[in-house]
Amino acid sequence: MPANQGSLPGVRVWSLPALLAFALAPGAALPAPSPPPGASPAAPSALGFTDGRAGQSLDGAWHVIVDPYDNGSLDYRNQPRPNGYFADAKPKNKSDLVEYDFSRSPTLNVPGDWNTQRPDLLYYEGTVWYERTFDAAAGPKDARQFLQFGAAAQRAMVWLNGRRLGAHEGGFTPFAFEVTGRVRPQANSLVVMVNDTRRLGAIPAMNTDWWNYGGLTRGVRLVETPAAFIRAARVELAQGDAHRVAGTVALDGARGPTAVTVEIPEVHTRVTVDTDAQGRAAFSFPATLSLWSPESPRLYDVDISAGGDRVRDRIGFRTIETHGTELRLNGRPIFLRGISLHEEALGRGGRATSRADAEALLGLAKELGCNFVRLAHYPHNEEMTRAADRLGLLVWSEIPVYWTIAWDDADTLADARRQLAEEIARDGNRASIILWSVGNETPVTEARTRFLRTLVEDARAADPTRLLTAALEHHPSGPHQITIDDPLGADLDVIGLNEYVGWYDGLPAKCDGLTWRSIYQKPIVVSEFGADAKAGFHADALTRFSEEYQADLYRHQLAMLRKVPAVRGMSPWILVDFRSQRRPLPGVQDGWNRKGLVANDGTKKQAFWILRDAYRGLAH
Ligand code: GCU
Repeated sequence: MPANQGSLPGVRVWSLPALLAFALAPGAALPAPSPPPGASPAAPSALGFTDGRAGQSLDGAWHVIVDPYDNGSLDYRNQPRPNGYFADAKPKNKSDLVEYDFSRSPTLNVPGDWNTQRPDLLYYEGTVWYERTFDAAAGPKDARQFLQFGAAAQRAMVWLNGRRLGAHEGGFTPFAFEVTGRVRPQANSLVVMVNDTRRLGAIPAMNTDWWNYGGLTRGVRLVETPAAFIRAARVELAQGDAHRVAGTVALDGARGPTAVTVEIPEVHTRVTVDTDAQGRAAFSFPATLSLWSPESPRLYDVDISAGGDRVRDRIGFRTIETHGTELRLNGRPIFLRGISLHEEALGRGGRATSRADAEALLGLAKELGCNFVRLAHYPHNEEMTRAADRLGLLVWSEIPVYWTIAWDDADTLADARRQLAEEIARDGNRASIILWSVGNETPVTEARTRFLRTLVEDARAADPTRLLTAALEHHPSGPHQITIDDPLGADLDVIGLNEYVGWYDGLPAKCDGLTWRSIYQKPIVVSEFGADAKAGFHADALTRFSEEYQADLYRHQLAMLRKVPAVRGMSPWILVDFRSQRRPLPGVQDGWNRKGLVANDGTKKQAFWILRDAYRGLAH
């Protein structure tokens, strides 16, 4: 991808110091400093297993105030307001001056981005205040309560009944705050300041080829737990032994060693172990299970109980490994017949949020003959990864360390590390996920490689069972040869390769005489290739943006990649056309990247069938 834009001069960015200065309103705690290099990233705040827990969904219509000047938090001297919008105030009497009123303000749906809910917000970037009130029936004595957010793009600060709970940076991973003892029986005021201003030091940073959707883009829940509860657990096949199940459990609030039972009822097997004083335990037990695969996506109910708490998850069991340039699923070589996709709803557009949205997108991938999807460029919502488990689609999941990042900024690194930890904590039990990707098309510099190596180490420490990759760049090494020798390749299990031969690099026929050289004896997944085509625009195969050009490019690409033995998978760019602020071409792009094999309205382009047929050939 040729770099052609720098950061926008004069853009007012919501800097972390400003955010913190505001956060230091009375009663606020100072957020933890960045962990020193080598120290593990901050523990994710989100709870596992919330679906089955008592509590209530807070989704629906929320009142909003669109606040481009951050008037709700800063006064005319840019100083934090002691009585900002977070107070959710009402005039005490006719003379009392309050210049906002959530209850009479318009509403937006949660979950959802603000951009596609109101035409005047399509291009809006900045702060939007969300507010809703809720009643909460008193729970059992000693019960604890948490407010859990599926995601808030790109950062959020949360208040309950006027008291600040905390902040979260990063638009694609969950977070939670404990509110035990702070919830009233009636009329609780929940205020969330959401901001999606692009920042040089953020992840992602200033420039992305996807729409900067803002808002409470995933569900919000008040979650109730016992005093001591199962906060997280990982259950998978034991390393190197597909006849044993192993894992870890982390309790929260346990007063000393506690008995934990892990059970797979369908195969009548269970184990009970005691936690240590911190409520942590590791376990393993023999189990004869049908292994999960795209052809047979077998999931099992897994029950975990400890003290008075009990949770259930649907989990598949499989092994994934590399062997030289081979990829092996459950010990057998596999070719990843994939496609890339963004988390955008088919037809409706905007962020995909629901089970139905996920099944519509992944259903298309299945129709294409895929056994693999690359969920680009950020962790998609949990409906998507759970649907991949059910439908039998292997998954490449990544954090938005994309293009140009502040590689030398300690806060930026801490942010990336936390997003990675939150992604792995949320989806560690998803059998479908086989690859964690730590970066996309990042420049080969020492600072960058150091940055990404830290992420690779974190991922290996948090999850030694999955493969690590990144979408690497490449360079010509002769008139008809391209070489992959990115130094980061040495740290990865699988080489991801983005290449646009025939679109940004020459015409499709350029593929014919090209050879690929990798200095690594590792599997290559071609994580991107493709061409824009406006659905319904027909011309000869050399006319850009025509369906014929795109179809021809797929023919040449597939023929070229078939000749590269180390290529063990691909996820062409991309399943469906998607919105991008970088694509203005009138009458063709109009704010959409048109590299989809399917238009956003569901119309399939010629290349869809070419890839489908190729995958049918590969499947047999
Ligand atoms: C890049 C990038 C994508 C982008 C694509 C394109 O490779 O990773 O995010 O959309 O190229 O140019 O279409």
